[in-house]
Amino acid sequence: MNWGENLLDVPGFYIEEQTLRVIQDYMFSGFHILLSGNPGCGKTEFGQVWAKAYGLPYHKVNSGAIRSPRDWFGRWEFREGKGTIFVPSKFIEMIEQPGLIIIDEINRTTPDNHNPIMNILDGNREVYVEELNRMVHVHEKTLFLATRNIGRQHTGTFHLDHALEDRFQEIRLLLPPESAIIDLLQKRYPINTEDARQIAAITRKLNDMYEEELLSKTMGLRPALAAAALLARGNTLKTALTYSFVNRYSHEGGTDSEQTSVIQAIQGVVGYRVLT
Ligand SMILES: Nc1ncnc2c1ncn2[C@@H]1O[C@H](COP(=O)(O)OP(=O)(O)OP(=O)(O)O)[C@@H](O)[C@H]1O
Ligand SMILES: [Mg+2]
Repeated sequence: MNWGENLLDVPGFYIEEQTLRVIQDYMFSGFHILLSGNPGCGKTEFGQVWAKAYGLPYHKVNSGAIRSPRDWFGRWEFREGKGTIFVPSKFIEMIEQPGLIIIDEINRTTPDNHNPIMNILDGNREVYVEELNRMVHVHEKTLFLATRNIGRQHTGTFHLDHALEDRFQEIRLLLPPESAIIDLLQKRYPINTEDARQIAAITRKLNDMYEEELLSKTMGLRPALAAAALLARGNTLKTALTYSFVNRYSHEGGTDSEQTSVIQAIQGVVGYRVLT
């Protein structure tokens, strides 16, 4: 793609046309993106498939692995014959060239660990790296896209500092509509349309129940893909739905359990007989 031109769609990935457009319009205007949304709705995957489709190198930082502020820049390592030397991180290497930097799960590291990237993400686009003894300038064609995990089931996440949050434009990714889920499932797995439709309907239903706070967790598209994989390898619909959807929910509480609500919701879609 020519730099600055928008992709009209991202092959293999569902995203609303307008959302895709706004993300790209922002990024090519120098704004950074923060993707939020329920688990399993494509936040982590989006940046990678978009960059591949655009023909842009990308690098994904796993923020949960940033344990101290200096981890962004690199680490000290002992090398035989050389003593202790500083090995710059891929992150530092990548911000000096065109590409997409995905800061995945940005709220999985504590706020003090964000300090080193504040200058990188503001208008200055530069940072002094003491270990390298020089200023590192962010390339004008380096784009930043962060993801944040939200949802009631997440532990180990932290509140984002306002100053950091202000450096991003937040975009919410939504679970695809039923027809798009059917399409995605059938593109990845050789399953028939009726099975794909039922899995998609269950996925939407459980997502709605989560939004209505009737369920404590949601996994977005993950159980749907898992069920399609089991079906494609010859398992029955009952096995696929039981292992991929039902077993993810607690059976504590017996007939009042979350698992019971999930089973009832699934039966509402596929009929009573399939799960018994
Ligand atoms: N919109 C989508 N289009 C295509 N595939 C999708 C989409 N959303 C999710 N998926 C698929 O679902 C799986 C989970 O997606 P991903 O890991 O990006 O979720 P996430 O939003 O980052 O979740 P979490 O909050 O748990 O980190 C991946 O296999 C991905 O391919
Ligand atoms: Mg993710």
